[in-house]
Amino acid sequence: MIRLAISKGRILEQAIEILRRININCKFNPIDSRKLIIPTNMKNLEIIIIKASDVPVYIDSGKVDIGIVGFDTLLEGSIANHYRLLDLQIAKCKLVVAGKPNTTYFNNMKIATKYPNAAKKYFEEIGLQCSILKLYGSIELAPVLSLSDFIVDIVESGKTLKENGLKEFDKIFDISSLLIANKVSYKIKNEEINSFIDKVKTHDK
Ligand code: PRP
Repeated sequence: MIRLAISKGRILEQAIEILRRININCKFNPIDSRKLIIPTNMKNLEIIIIKASDVPVYIDSGKVDIGIVGFDTLLEGSIANHYRLLDLQIAKCKLVVAGKPNTTYFNNMKIATKYPNAAKKYFEEIGLQCSILKLYGSIELAPVLSLSDFIVDIVESGKTLKENGLKEFDKIFDISSLLIANKVSYKIKNEEINSFIDKVKTHDK
């Protein structure tokens, strides 16, 4: 039996679509069911629905064998008892610096973000000092209410930036979702996991 964790939110729908294309069907629709453990038509595969930031915790502990998670979620984690096996090229977005139009970067500016490590590294690399304010959601609000000067956040459609009067200044990097596996699970369930990965690789063929 392998357990596959899928992040709640924007990844879920696209991940379920990949499974459907390789004839893996959930016994309950994870989009509208409140069940957190969902059996599939494959006797040896069950789906676990987890908040994105908790997926690495379950995978690294070995309670769940493999997972589909955004690269952004892996950015800030310190433990990494997992392998990154496959880039699924789904839920594509980018990590950017954004702020109010007509502003410019300056030393000691304040950056609000869910991604403090990635933000700090980026500004260090471009030689600017800044202070980082960790927030947990609705990041775009911070510069609008002058809680911060800029933000480092995910942009997918660009709608949230636009509707809040903000502008993208720089792209830090592109993001998509990866299939990861607990290191021990990958060793002891190698055949099952690799056969699942081989099927996933055919999903767009
Ligand atoms: C993410 C991100 C942006 C928004 C970008 O937030 O932090 O706020 O999506 O998407 P867009 O470019 O398509 O508008 P999420 O929806 O995950 O919610 P959150 O603000 O609670 O983190």
